[in-house]
Parts: sequence; C-alpha cells; structure tokens
Amino acid sequence: LKHFLTIEGLKRQHLIDILDTAESLTGVAERRVKKLPTLRGKTVANLFFESSTRTRTTFELAAKRLSADVLTVNIATSSTSKGETLLDTVRNIEAMQCDMFVVRHAASGAAEFIARHVRPHIAVLNAGDGRHAHPTQAMLDMLTIRRHKGPAFQDLRVAIVGDILHSRVARSDIHALNVLGCANVRVVAPRTLLPPEVGTLGVQVFHDLDQGLRDVDVVIMLRLQRERMSGALLPSAQEYYQQYGLTEERLAVARPDAIVMHPGPINRGVEMASAVVDGPRSVILEQVTNGIAVRMAVMSITLGNQSSPAEDA
Ligand code: CP
Repeated sequence: LKHFLTIEGLKRQHLIDILDTAESLTGVAERRVKKLPTLRGKTVANLFFESSTRTRTTFELAAKRLSADVLTVNIATSSTSKGETLLDTVRNIEAMQCDMFVVRHAASGAAEFIARHVRPHIAVLNAGDGRHAHPTQAMLDMLTIRRHKGPAFQDLRVAIVGDILHSRVARSDIHALNVLGCANVRVVAPRTLLPPEVGTLGVQVFHDLDQGLRDVDVVIMLRLQRERMSGALLPSAQEYYQQYGLTEERLAVARPDAIVMHPGPINRGVEMASAVVDGPRSVILEQVTNGIAVRMAVMSITLGNQSSPAEDA
C-alpha cells in the first residue's frame, strides 16, 4: 500500500495483513515493549482540518512509538484562516521535507485529492473525510471484533445503529466487514438517516431497534451527527433516544456475549445510556487503545519500507 485512503478496492489479504501487523505491534503500542526504529528519520505531519480527540492523538502516539518526528499543525491558528488554499498549505508543509501526511477534512475526497498532488515519496493516510471514509477507524473496529470474537467474521451478526447517512465510520465498517466475509451486516436507522444507496451496500436494513438487535454478536452505535444535518432531518434528542437509544433492557435481545462499540465521541443519553457505555459489554475504550496499534501498522506498511530523501541525501 502506498497510501491508505479507503477500504474500498482493498482485498481480504490487505486487511488481514494490517490486523496481523497491528497484533504484532500491540506490545509497543501499549508501552509494554520499547519503541521501534521503523520510522526513524521520517517526518509525519498531522493535518486535521476538522476537530478530533482520538484519531489525532493516537496517530501522534503511533508515529512516536515508531520513532518518527511528528509535526501536528494547528489548522485553527494556521494561515488557512487568511485564505491559503488546501493545496498551498500542503505544498508548504511538503517543503519542510515531510514523508507522510495524516489528513482529516470535512470534504469527502480531500485525502485522495492531496494524495494525487504530493511528491511521489509521500504517503497520505485518510483520518476521516466528510461522509466518505474513515479507514483506520474501520480497521481498529475490525481488530477489536477479532480480538473478542475470533477470526471467523463469516459467522458473525453485526448491527450498525444510528446515523448511517452522515457516517464515514459506517461506510468504512460496512466495506471492511464485507471484505472480511461477514454475511450478516445490519443497519438500524430511521429512513431519514439512511443513504439513498443503502440497497447497494450489502447490508440488511431495519428500522426497528429491537428487531435489528435480535441475536447479534456485535453492536456498533453511531453518534447523531447534528453538525451535518439541516432542520427537517434533525430529530429531537428525546425522540431519537426513545426509538434508537441503546439501554440495558434493549440490549437484552442481542446474544448474551454481544459486545458494544462506539467510535466516539459519544452523546450520552442520546444514542446510548451511560449504563451501557460504562457497562460490562462495552469495549469502547479498548477500541481507542487498539487504534494505536492499527495506526502503527498502517504507517509501517505504507512508509516503513521506504528510505526518506533526507536520509538518501
Ligand atoms: N472516532 C473518531 O474519529 O474520533 P475523533 O473524532 O475524536 O478522532
């Protein structure tokens, strides 16, 4: 892999390689083993044009545990506020001899656009673009599922619940589950929060939460992305919680060993009850920890085998 922009188009073996590499890096990611020299001499630039807590910090930690130099550009106080274009910003950071860009942007396709315009030795990793894709989130979700449920994805029932329409996580998770052979992927959402192309995604559609959760092994809850909604779409938080909020009672129809996931940030009392967020089936904080190993894996695979021009000079 030269860049990591989307799960679409990747083969099962690509995903297995990322998961196996992440597994092998877990000791380093969790600081039980010393950091690795894989990216020594490389510079990673974090360009987050949208806010982030988990993705930005775990990418930064991942790069540091692979011995890279890390540049986190504060976009809010950068010269983009003076009208500098995305490409000019990138070209200027590129001129500082960077080897990798980690990009989050509100526009779908932004990471791919940057990948088309950077110098050939630079790797671009998509850290979330608009509604389109969040591929490292999908891979940390797959690692979390595999650790709890084993490698037989084809035997699993997975429900993705909530605002599918605006969710790049849902899209990337669905693609990853399909590629890994999971034949029972369900989406559970009101009609207004489903994308028009849902029929082409290889999922079963449910509008009723109790039906959608019946006998599932994995529940992935999604945040209601109010910042991407306009008036007519916007359900009241109370109404939404009544119909789609995950409580301990509603979770009872899932398998007794079902795990509950959420990419974060969580709106407690909107998509989930606090008792479920903090309850025994929740693996939400494990997802965050797994994000470090997965991001180390993706960085190693895309950049770890190249020598940087700075080293060659
Ligand atoms: N899951 C996720 O992308 O979280 P952040 O927005 O905090 O990075």
